[in-house]
Amino acid sequence: MGNVQNTCKFISCFSYKGGAGRSTLAINVVPYLAEMLNATEKRPLVLVDMDIDSCGLTFLFDLHNDHRIKKECVQSWFHPRFSNMPIVDEDEDEIDSALDHEMFQNLYPVGEFFGFRPKEILCLPANPGETIKGDSNYDAPLSSHISAFKRMCKSTACGVLFDSAVGSQLTAIWSNNCASHIMCCLRPTEQFREGTKHFFDIYDTKANSKNIIIIPNIVPVDELSIKGKNGIINNYPSYAKDRILEDFKDNLSRKNNNYILDLLEGNKFGVPKIDRFMWQEGVLKNAENLSEIERTALDIYKEIARMIVAGN
Ligand SMILES: Nc1ncnc2c1ncn2[C@@H]1O[C@H](COP(=O)(O)OP(=O)(O)OP(=O)(O)O)[C@@H](O)[C@H]1O
Ligand SMILES: [Mg+2]
Repeated sequence: MGNVQNTCKFISCFSYKGGAGRSTLAINVVPYLAEMLNATEKRPLVLVDMDIDSCGLTFLFDLHNDHRIKKECVQSWFHPRFSNMPIVDEDEDEIDSALDHEMFQNLYPVGEFFGFRPKEILCLPANPGETIKGDSNYDAPLSSHISAFKRMCKSTACGVLFDSAVGSQLTAIWSNNCASHIMCCLRPTEQFREGTKHFFDIYDTKANSKNIIIIPNIVPVDELSIKGKNGIINNYPSYAKDRILEDFKDNLSRKNNNYILDLLEGNKFGVPKIDRFMWQEGVLKNAENLSEIERTALDIYKEIARMIVAGN
């Protein structure tokens, strides 16, 4: 893992529409990422809940009722005009570690959630119900506060994982602009395929190029047949793979983004549907009595972490 020690990975967990399993995927990849990136209290992994309309991570870590949340949250740190983010000097990217900086001190320790020490994994939550209004617009570039946040993390964290908002929402654009790796949750339906492929057009230049991991999500793996418009579709993974490859044909042929398609293969197709997640979101790695399908899912979460750590 050569230079893992000195680099910070910026990762976004994105989907074109909501309810596709982003938050669940994000938190289940975290323990593997933290392990593979060697997260320590001195070089923590930072999680950011960029989904300000539906703050999955924030609720999961039970941070929504914390008395500090109004101030220490995505909305108040990153809003172009009203930021409460601690001031970061321009020359602060020169320093080796910004861990003592107020900015890092104000992040919430959530390591214990994943079986790590509290400060090995930190979180910037979102404040539920507070939308970013004002002069922001869907095409806004990174706000200067996010750029400063990125600079600080670059020198200090082993990785930053954004639980992104959906589609072309402002904060989704921010997460994806920041990231070199995008975990793209894709329900392999026509609507998702079409929306997603157009979304990635905005990164389709050499200068902007991203590693985009296509993750068919919450799919039937135990039953490999589904009921389609025109009757039963047998061998669903191969059907979905063909549809995705066909729809993404132009994106793939331009070769600007690096689309990682390993999870379209039959024996490890997508992230399987897990019964216990229907009722309770959680970290599967720490759960007891794993079923076979859950062990398969864990292998896939681990594989996704590996793809991220292996990529540039
Ligand atoms: N692998 C899975 N198997 C079964 N259910 C899942 C799985 N992953 C997620 N879910 C369930 O699907 C629902 C949506 O998942 P999740 O909240 O992770 O999606 P999301 O894309 O973050 O949604 P939102 O747009 O609300 O932020 C949740 O109730 C979750 O428990
Ligand atoms: Mg979510």
